[in-house]
Amino acid sequence: MIPIASPIIENDEIQEVVNVLRSGFLAQGPKVEEFEKAFANYTNSRHAVATSSGTSALHVALSAAGVGKGDEVITTPFSFAATSNAALYVGARPVFVDINPLTYNIDPEGIEDAITRDTKAIIVVHLYGQPAEMDHIKDIGEDHGLIVIEDAAQAHGALYHGRKVGSLGDIACFSFYPTKNITTGEGGMITTDDEDIARLARMIRSHGESERYEHVILGYNFRMTDIAAAIGIVQLKKLDKFNDRRIENAEYLTENLEALDYIKTPYVMDDVKHVFHQYTVRVENRERWIEYLRGEGIGVGVHYPRPIYRQPLYEDLGLVADCPEAEKASREVLSLPVHPSLTMDDLDRIIDAVENFPG
Ligand SMILES: Cc1ncc(COP(=O)(O)O)c(C=O)c1O
Repeated sequence: MIPIASPIIENDEIQEVVNVLRSGFLAQGPKVEEFEKAFANYTNSRHAVATSSGTSALHVALSAAGVGKGDEVITTPFSFAATSNAALYVGARPVFVDINPLTYNIDPEGIEDAITRDTKAIIVVHLYGQPAEMDHIKDIGEDHGLIVIEDAAQAHGALYHGRKVGSLGDIACFSFYPTKNITTGEGGMITTDDEDIARLARMIRSHGESERYEHVILGYNFRMTDIAAAIGIVQLKKLDKFNDRRIENAEYLTENLEALDYIKTPYVMDDVKHVFHQYTVRVENRERWIEYLRGEGIGVGVHYPRPIYRQPLYEDLGLVADCPEAEKASREVLSLPVHPSLTMDDLDRIIDAVENFPG
């Protein structure tokens, strides 16, 4: 089976983990600090704060930005649930705005209509590795005094008009889950240019401590371990190479599949570097496709099978929304393998299988 994702862990990552295990610094220590510096540098951000996951990064980011009870957070319904769950963690209400059907990212045109007196922040997601329309969204944020947070969990290394994601909004959050463009096992990172946000984020991720045993605000244990950071430091050095492979693989798939009228290949905006966390096409009869491709030994994924507001949790909370493009996309999207471990032979097998879909 060609897997839908496959993390690349080589001898250098393994050796670095062994070094940490021998050092005695197993929890947050010098490796976390080194990883934060390297990540801030990579994303052209002033500060980077490592966390235990992408989810905790989002939670900390909203807390540090002062978003809380009674506030509204505008976001996309077409993402992993962690994006809007972060609003729920801090007692805020997620408000869903429909997506652009070409890019699958939040449609800036819908944002202004969703703004109320209670709106405090916008969380955009750079879905599948393609940056959201940040210029437009930043303008809206500035006009209305809203904090713009990038959920860059799927977009490490992506560029928007030549600028790195992670430096486009007021705060950005990354995930290093094993399916992501780089991994630390579990892990996350917050980037920001705002000194106060960075300081608060450091406190919130570690029990709200201003110094040892001085708890000044409510915090959590959302720290990254040095074991994870050691993997991240090595992976970050390989990120551009991994992304180049993803892009090459995506281009090869598109060259060979775009002429087929029963499949819609991904759209890439002008002047962006889409880093293809996922290569997601649209099809009809998705269930038949899934059964067929898996039968052909090709792993596939559905990102995502329903808009977040259709999750039972959100329905129970009465967080309904009307986002027809997200509904349609959630019925049609199908992700094919695009990760950097694929061989030419794997890619040709995927193309062959799609070309020979029995319908
Ligand atoms: C868009 C998005 N946001 C947030 C997350 C949460 O990250 P994590 O799994 O590291 O908590 C993920 C990934 O899982 C994601 O894809």
